Amino acid sequence: MSQQRRFGPKGPAVTRTRPLAPAALAALAVAGVAAAVLVACGGGGGGGGGTAVALPPAAAAVAAASSPAATPASAPASTLSLAAQVGQKMFFDKNLSGSGAMSCASCHDPAHAYAPANDLSVQLGGVHMDKAGLRAVPSLRYKDITPAYADLLDNPDGISVPGPGGGFAWDGRADTLAAQARIPLLDTLEMANASSADVVKKLQAADYAPLIAKAFGDKVFDDSDAAFAKALQALQAYQLEDRSFHPYSSKFDLYAANKIGGNLTPAETRGLKVFTNPATGNCASCHYQGAGLNGSSALFTDFSYEAIGVPRNANIPANNDLKYFDMGVCGPLRTDHAPAAPNAANNFCGMFKAPTMRNVATRQAFFHNGVMHSLEQVIRFYNTRDTRPELWYPTAGGTPKAKNDADFPTYGLVTTQYTGGKVQKFDDLPPAYAPNIDTQLPMDGRAAGSAPPMSEQDIADLICFLNTLSDADTKPATPVKPGACVN
Ligand code: HEC
Ligand code: HEC
Repeated sequence: MSQQRRFGPKGPAVTRTRPLAPAALAALAVAGVAAAVLVACGGGGGGGGGTAVALPPAAAAVAAASSPAATPASAPASTLSLAAQVGQKMFFDKNLSGSGAMSCASCHDPAHAYAPANDLSVQLGGVHMDKAGLRAVPSLRYKDITPAYADLLDNPDGISVPGPGGGFAWDGRADTLAAQARIPLLDTLEMANASSADVVKKLQAADYAPLIAKAFGDKVFDDSDAAFAKALQALQAYQLEDRSFHPYSSKFDLYAANKIGGNLTPAETRGLKVFTNPATGNCASCHYQGAGLNGSSALFTDFSYEAIGVPRNANIPANNDLKYFDMGVCGPLRTDHAPAAPNAANNFCGMFKAPTMRNVATRQAFFHNGVMHSLEQVIRFYNTRDTRPELWYPTAGGTPKAKNDADFPTYGLVTTQYTGGKVQKFDDLPPAYAPNIDTQLPMDGRAAGSAPPMSEQDIADLICFLNTLSDADTKPATPVKPGACVN
């Protein structure tokens, strides 16, 4: 809670459904004091310890793990509009790709919370299914309430100053689910259709073409551009309407709604405290769990963008070009916030969306470039990016030790210990943009060699808590050891 914070802290303006533990109340008090004395200064959302939990939308709360949508036929047709039924068919239709081998579900697998089934950093696609993508595939769950991107989006906490927020994809470049759907259909690294007209031709030949006509009218195929737009609307309707995209069936949802099965264990309760505590984890300042936009609650994101300096991923072929940098909001995939000239000042460079934490324990590749592969590794990165940067970024000019010291950690991305040399911190961002890196806890820029903000117990507890955010139909990527989250 130092004056270096770029963003105003979140306060207690959320509905509480159960009394807070004393430590959580203390956190709220701290946040409240800071809110009074700090002048926030623009940029992405984020802030201090919004601590309380609130009820999910009533309708959502009653939704158990509903139609698994493992196959297009599994959802009862009556619950979906005709447009959404078309979207459902499309979502699983491999014909809608240049290869004939890839549907939306190939990357967004309903059995994995609509994220990939494998642990690749980026997926293979293209006409021959051999082209590596540029970014890790996000889950499609809990995306329905995402507002369109704005440079100055109001923060749902009502206290933080407005900042870059909203929008779909890691850089927010699509305003709606319909606009997003166009990207993979036409991307040469993904579904790689030749053109929108090509997609429409395939739809016209599909066995569900009559359903399309029923949904959008007999003349739907007369105008190819209009038909493509309808098809994108159909994919959007499916993702909005089908409950499998927002089941609210996690243990946390039972807890927030005060339902049977929702008692958090002592370890999970401590983990929630670490998550919200502005002095340790502070995760909630960006992965906001309070009352959200449009009547939402506990989405575990405030849709804001920050630069946190995720290490470069050498396994993404595009990164073989040392001049290529994926800088998120400032491009190059997104083009409307590009620097005026290479390295010209630009606050948006390096910013990526703070994604939801729901189902995060089911993920197998983390961050926009998929460089990390376990939740524990991600949390250790947050904890030691500044205190032990040599574990995360390459060292230039040093000499590798013949044998690592016995206490050299094995959890980092770098497993070779060096003598001498210089750590190339923030190696995936041109140095001109290092000042864009966020300075909130848990990564507050403290000196290398100093103590990290979270203890080993904090880390273990945080993992236990994050596992409560997994929907009932999912499996953890790394199951916690039996009994580890009980006491
Ligand atoms: C080859 C793998 C692949 C396929 C196939 C694919 N996607 Fe994606 N999807 C991605 C990746 C990668 C991203 C992140 C893109 C980015 O940040 O630029 C993404 C992002 C999204 C998002 C935004 C989620 C968010 O968190 O903002 C939506 C929605 C989405 N995809 C829907 C679809 C739909 C609908 C289809 C089928 C028409 C589809 N995807 C096909 C890989 C894929
Ligand atoms: C300053 C805002 C901020 C804070 C504080 C923060 N995060 Fe994040 N988080 C982000 C952003 C931004 C990303 C995406 C970064 C990227 O991909 O480049 C992210 C990504 C993640 C991911 C990857 C999710 C995925 O789908 O790939 C996890 C897991 C995560 N954060 C957990 C945490 C935890 C746990 C804490 C607290 C210890 C925390 N975060 C604190 C902003 C924040």
